[in-house]
Amino acid sequence: MTRLMVFLGVLTAFVLGLVLFSYKSLPVSNAKFDLHKTEEAYEKRTELIHELTAPKEKVAEVEVEVKEYAPVVDLNTPELVKGHKLYNQCISCHGKGGEGKASQKAPFIGGQFDWYIEKQLTDMKAGVRSNPVMNPILKGLSPQDMKDLAAYVSRLPWKKLVEGAAPAAAAAQ
Ligand code: HEC
Repeated sequence: MTRLMVFLGVLTAFVLGLVLFSYKSLPVSNAKFDLHKTEEAYEKRTELIHELTAPKEKVAEVEVEVKEYAPVVDLNTPELVKGHKLYNQCISCHGKGGEGKASQKAPFIGGQFDWYIEKQLTDMKAGVRSNPVMNPILKGLSPQDMKDLAAYVSRLPWKKLVEGAAPAAAAAQ
């Protein structure tokens, strides 16, 4: 009986030893408990929060002159009528014919594909494309407004209106 007890004791000790040994060889991940890393991540996040919540630099607001003018596009659909009206806000920078204005760094947009114009306006409003100078105007535009504007602008014949103006010449001013 004692022999059996001793045998069982040794066996248990052996099995326990094996179990403990296999525990040791388990891979231990300390990443979660790395205080230094956690601190760094915390600092980075705090910085980001500061950056995001810091008061925004004020963008110089440009006077937008709104003037009625004779339409240069055949306003034969309600969309074009609306587009023409909305385009009043754009003239000070992009010109009556969509010819652009180098002094404002505003590109010519007349005759551009309507889908491209609509996409740029949508992207700029959503902040996907950054354009601070147009932001105040974009804020007031609905998706339908942008469609109407795009339809109107795509028909602007600026090359015919601006005599002899080539894109390069207009940009060089
Ligand atoms: C204060 C001046 C200003 C006004 C007003 C303005 N824009 Fe712009 N617009 C710009 C500038 C500057 C850019 C070029 C932005 C850039 O460099 O990305 C631009 C870019 C664009 C583009 C992109 C052109 C391209 O080739 O990618 C479109 C489209 C556009 N404007 C349409 C309009 C429409 C439509 C309005 C009126 C609702 C308008 N803009 C009013 C200054 C203006």
